[in-house]
Amino acid sequence: MDKAKFLVSGKEYEFPLLNGTENEVAVDIRKLRESTGLITYDPGYGNTGSCRSAITFIDGDNGILRYRGYPIEELAGQIRFSAAAYLMVYGRLPSESEFLEWRKQLTLNSFVHASQVNFFDNYSALAHPMNILSSMVSSMSAFYPYDAEDESDIDLHIRRLIGQVKTIAAFSYRKSVGLPYIYPRTDHSYAANFLRMMFATPAEEYVVPKVMENALDMLLILHMDHEQNCSTSTVRMVASSMSNIYASVSAGISALWGRLHGGANEAVLNMLQRISEDGGNVSKYVELAKKKDDPFRLMGFGHRVYKNFDPRSRILKKAVDDVFNEMGIHDPLLGVARELEDVALKDDFFIQRKLYPNVDFYSGILYRALGIPTEMFTVLFAIGRMPGWIAHWLEMRADPDLRIQRPRQIYIGETKRHYEKNDTFL
Ligand code: CMC
Repeated sequence: MDKAKFLVSGKEYEFPLLNGTENEVAVDIRKLRESTGLITYDPGYGNTGSCRSAITFIDGDNGILRYRGYPIEELAGQIRFSAAAYLMVYGRLPSESEFLEWRKQLTLNSFVHASQVNFFDNYSALAHPMNILSSMVSSMSAFYPYDAEDESDIDLHIRRLIGQVKTIAAFSYRKSVGLPYIYPRTDHSYAANFLRMMFATPAEEYVVPKVMENALDMLLILHMDHEQNCSTSTVRMVASSMSNIYASVSAGISALWGRLHGGANEAVLNMLQRISEDGGNVSKYVELAKKKDDPFRLMGFGHRVYKNFDPRSRILKKAVDDVFNEMGIHDPLLGVARELEDVALKDDFFIQRKLYPNVDFYSGILYRALGIPTEMFTVLFAIGRMPGWIAHWLEMRADPDLRIQRPRQIYIGETKRHYEKNDTFL
């Protein structure tokens, strides 16, 4: 077996190498501290492999993304979200009968518990929909409790999570605009059900436009997984203490909310709006993004792993053109986005740092075309990511290398000092 050799204080140590199926190589440092007394320091974990995973492969230098071996280009826009969700969770595409049963089960399990529906009445009108989503998903474990040691019902919990996340999302929107709730139907696809729950009225039949259903399916699949990103690592971190699947996933939703992660899609739209209202001078904002003393960054640009075009943003850029043509939409913010991309990609700062548009750059423009309100963009990301979080949760629980996740630190605080008795503190 190949080894990595480290020289520590003149003494040589050998560590085994681990190989992935796509030629990735990692140094297995599990015995590092025991044999050398050293730990590693890697803030942000840019060089740390936290697990072995068979779910998603990314080659960031060449802009490659595959789910369970399938290139993203052969899934997004080609199959329904529910088929991709089955692939993600169970590792293979379903047969026709499995697919029909799975799709039906996702709908039959998509009704939010009647007592939990009352929760929507009590959130503040100021609550962000991501706030509502994470607390509602967390509360699901109070309505569907289970013993984390006994996972015989896990498939049912999975169907509930995938089925209900879209219902919770749609209901929080309907509540915010004072409209009655619409329930899903088994004769609609996952995406069509979500659009119907968002936009139908009980007074008449609502025919979901195919162009919208297809675009939403594609968007949700693009968001489905991205290996050990912040929210997925959060789900794994929480799951490693043997927390239940609802608690683990709700923590992932909270992690996704941040603007450096899934919250970027909302931030992109707000940024484009700001640029547009400021006269559309994109160069001014590209310059601002380069200033180290200013917190402004080009939202939807840059990625920890991709040092090339994010393949998801390529698909989205084309989809925006197709959907806008088909729907006959003109959105001035799309012009701002295109110009911003052009200027940034020619700028030395962005070229040197290999900063390209990521998935969030064009997704918001497309969500906007579908009529989704800006503050719900990250909720849509969460709906798409749900099967990915679940797949990682399952994979982690079955991993023979599973240990509670517990990083080390380098302590830089005070060395030992003594407390001097002071009666004020009594
Ligand atoms: N605008 C301006 N400068 C940037 C940007 C940006 N969007 N992204 C990175 N940089 C600069 C950064 O200042 C640094 O410069 P220097 O080397 O001079 O210090 C260099 O590029 C490397 O950046 P980093 O912050 O060390 O990179 P990271 O891997 O830690 O962060 C990121 C990745 C995605 C958080 C970051 O690129 C970013 O903040 N982008 C904007 C937010 C965003 O679009 N997030 C969505 C990510 S994709 C979907 C998802 O994960 O949900």
